[in-house]
Amino acid sequence: MRTHYCGELNEDHIDQQVTVCGWVHRRRDHGGVIFIDLRDREGLLQVVYDPDRPDVFATAEKVRSEYVLRVTGRVRRRPEGTENPKMATGQIEVLGLELEILNASETPPFQLDDEQVSEEHRLRYRYIDLRRPRMLENMKLRSRVTSELRRYLDDNGFLDMETPMLTRATPEGARDFLVPSRLHPGAFYALPQSPQLFKQLLMVSGMDRYYQLVRCFRDEDLRADRQPEFTQLDIETSFMDEEAIMNMMEKMIRRLFKAVLDVELPDPFPRMTHAEAMHRYGSDRPDLRVPLELIDVGDVMAEVEFKVFSGPAKDPHGRVAALRLPGGGALSRKEIDEYTDFVGIYGAKGLAYIKVNAVAKGREGLQSPILKFLPDEAINAILERTGAEDGDLIFFGADKKAVVNESLGALRVRLGHDRGLVEGEWKPLWVVDFPMFEPDEEGGGFAALHHPFTAPQVEDVAALEADPHHVLSRAYDMVINGTEVGGGSIRIHRADIQAAVFRLLGIADEEAREKFGFLLDALKYGCPPHGGIAFGLDRLVMLMAGEGSIREVMAFPKTQSGNCLLTQAPAPVSEAQLKELHIAVRKKPSTGKS
Ligand code: AMO
Ligand code: AMP
Repeated sequence: MRTHYCGELNEDHIDQQVTVCGWVHRRRDHGGVIFIDLRDREGLLQVVYDPDRPDVFATAEKVRSEYVLRVTGRVRRRPEGTENPKMATGQIEVLGLELEILNASETPPFQLDDEQVSEEHRLRYRYIDLRRPRMLENMKLRSRVTSELRRYLDDNGFLDMETPMLTRATPEGARDFLVPSRLHPGAFYALPQSPQLFKQLLMVSGMDRYYQLVRCFRDEDLRADRQPEFTQLDIETSFMDEEAIMNMMEKMIRRLFKAVLDVELPDPFPRMTHAEAMHRYGSDRPDLRVPLELIDVGDVMAEVEFKVFSGPAKDPHGRVAALRLPGGGALSRKEIDEYTDFVGIYGAKGLAYIKVNAVAKGREGLQSPILKFLPDEAINAILERTGAEDGDLIFFGADKKAVVNESLGALRVRLGHDRGLVEGEWKPLWVVDFPMFEPDEEGGGFAALHHPFTAPQVEDVAALEADPHHVLSRAYDMVINGTEVGGGSIRIHRADIQAAVFRLLGIADEEAREKFGFLLDALKYGCPPHGGIAFGLDRLVMLMAGEGSIREVMAFPKTQSGNCLLTQAPAPVSEAQLKELHIAVRKKPSTGKS
């Protein structure tokens, strides 16, 4: 049907007769000559029809935006002065000799070059949205990325294997999507939150190295970098320790960035313990492009009369930290109020600050609503510890550790971007030495920081049980520019340790047996030491594409509220279908609309 893609023609093709197919991007009539910009996956091409061939010209007059055409013509150099350096094919054009309208199009719901279209509108007509060059580039990038990743893993002896989608719950911290069983009344499959357990079983089977580009399903609150279904590059290996796995994986990511973006990432990636990341950045996925750091001032504040500070300073679960913003003295009252609202999203009850006008003048050179509550020693210690200079502003957070870390951690990144302090383009990092457990939501017991199959850094059950609060895990997260792109660990390969971890997590033996009996059994039949990692493919591609949301790199994403605007899923189903599945809906949706 065609000899070339529109976008691939150039000066090498001059004087050749070509046939191309594509969509009408734009049609312009210029004093008896018709110009059509024809678009296909590879780009735009200018086609010219002159009235010398009246029948073809008459057809050209009929075409409208987004009509699908087949054009045969001769490639020629554009007349001098009409070249378009912004177009890849801008040196040439095709003189149209024949023209076939393969299909007409109604007026599209939006212009492809309109940047103001709402996301809702874009998602409703995603097939049109995907015609836009930016989206096409994102999809091509994604395909490039997956093929590079596959190539690396194939070269390193990994087997590409599939695991079930209709399965049982795998605890990754989110709610499950359930699928009712017609054949087993009242029983449900769960869609996998990850293939975690299956990939471990594959190691028991001796597959040695496994990978899969796999869809995962998690019913959780959605954000710019979270979708209910997303894609992991899932990996598992046997007989490799964390050192070997991290090396092999960062090499893969370095190769990927080199091949696709021509970017050299550092070799090796820097590493940071979880404790240091929380301490300096208030986050387990610090964006190292932002140079600001949290500075502890709790010891200075323990005895001050300002209760907002002294309370958390004395609380073993509290934290009082400062964040110095160089040049921040220029912030207006309104801007500071906006940042106060911003940290409020993370639970902070306020955002105290000190404006530093003249360090040398001590108290007299400062400006702050809390100054009157602070003795000179405290003020001097703050100035010294933060390294404050004239014109700076120092923010303070005082609360439970988690609130201070989250709020100041987020503020740090926001200030970095708002104030143009971002340094360098790519800052990858391994975060290691995570705690094995964190206090659970009720506060009485433990929750797993990663999933419950992560191995502890201690050798036996006694050591694990002696002081679970302080046991570290053999987990590692890969972070790039403040986004967690991957996470993994060495796994528990001994049944006694796995059982102890379940116990510490408050999963009774009986329940463990019921839910994970197959894993506990498998551990008894020659399970090799093993470990792995999973990368969030969507996040990786989002970063590489320079996009702010994973929706921009997914062909058919869902909205923040989990809807597919194209198909209107989720949707009610017929009574007959429900009956067949042995399901009664408890409450009819009030609107009757999905
Ligand atoms: P984890 O839960 O950390 O680990 O997931 C691995 C990576 O998947 C990405 N990710 C997501 N991307 C988009 N939307 C989501 N809702 C979402 N949730 C997670 C993140 C994350 O780093 N089984 C373990 C891996 C292992 O231990 O090998 C797991 O799933 O980039
Ligand atoms: P208040 O005494 O509540 O008026 O607070 C005085 C200053 O302390 C204001 O600038 C508040 O924003 C700030 N502030 C209040 N609570 C906190 C907190 N938990 N952490 C940091 N600053 C706070």
